[in-house]
Amino acid sequence: MKDINIFAIETSCDETSCSIIKNGNVDIATVILSQIDIHKNFGGVVPEIASRNHTKAITLVFEECLNKANMTFEDIDYIAVTYGPGLNGALLVGIEAAKALSFATGIPLIKVNHMAGHIYANKFVGDFKFPLISLVVSGGHTELIYMDKEYSFKKIGGTLDDSIGEAYDKVARVVGIPYPGGPLMDKMAHNGKHTYNLPTPKDDNSYDFSFSGIKSAVINLVHNEKQRGNEINKENLATSFQETVVDILVKKTKRAVKEYGVKQLLVAGGVSANSGLRKALDNMCEELNIELLKPELKYCTDNAAMIGAAAYYALKNNDIADYTLGPEPGLDLVEDGE
Ligand code: KG4
Ligand code: ZN
Repeated sequence: MKDINIFAIETSCDETSCSIIKNGNVDIATVILSQIDIHKNFGGVVPEIASRNHTKAITLVFEECLNKANMTFEDIDYIAVTYGPGLNGALLVGIEAAKALSFATGIPLIKVNHMAGHIYANKFVGDFKFPLISLVVSGGHTELIYMDKEYSFKKIGGTLDDSIGEAYDKVARVVGIPYPGGPLMDKMAHNGKHTYNLPTPKDDNSYDFSFSGIKSAVINLVHNEKQRGNEINKENLATSFQETVVDILVKKTKRAVKEYGVKQLLVAGGVSANSGLRKALDNMCEELNIELLKPELKYCTDNAAMIGAAAYYALKNNDIADYTLGPEPGLDLVEDGE
């Protein structure tokens, strides 16, 4: 069979990224330009600034990616682009660039859901075995997704308020850790002890999550201690927070894996880089004797390689786009697969 090379573009938040992916699982070249240092000054991503920086960077990122791969558009079979969910203006930059390239070269365009991208980042690790469940944990999502075949997504649970990444970033902010706080909180959690008694997040028979309660509890705790003139032990707080949220994520995932009798568990999204979560899922899967796929650390947070991997299957799903394609900031993963 002829190889299929996909030129993939991702601009849904604050990373301008481009990849060339062969047959859905070979990363020929990937370039990721992160704007984190710019947004750090504001304590979070500023949408207008993100769009402006994507506009400045995108053609340079394309060029660098082609150079790295030592390829031209002659070698490319499809162009793929993230069309949602994400920031409207940020998505727009990638989509317009993709449409312009497609128009200029005659190469067909594939539309890709960003969350499908996160799940398909696992294709660089191994093949999917159905049925499977994917625990999707990112800056915008906390979901349990059931899949009984390629590119078909059924949501069995989600967050009722904050996502897990959001909770990490907000808790980090209140103790003075710069955006995005998740990775640093994770590091600090290694050096602390579980000394703070935090409320258990929504622990019921549903597959839904809620992290606003624990987030508010941490914010109140920090404020109260400050008022009393007491120092917060940030490392102990990081450990206490991490162990509490990982516990509930693993508990609900474990129940879902058993109830749905799946062959494989996947973890996906920025928070899948979390070492506490990775270790707890490793232990759980060993105990249940089920295979776990975790993305390589470089593919956990936003990147175009995962979009190129998902695009290979989006193509089989006939997700070819025309020039009317526009951003869908609130795009649902489930609608996409049906
Ligand atoms: O998937 P992602 O790059 O962007 C979205 O699609 O939202 O996820 C970003 C989120 C941020 O909230 C960041 O703090 C969190 O992932 N994150 C982590 C870790 N690495 C990234 N959270 C906890 N532990 C980590 N090691
Ligand atoms: Zn993402």
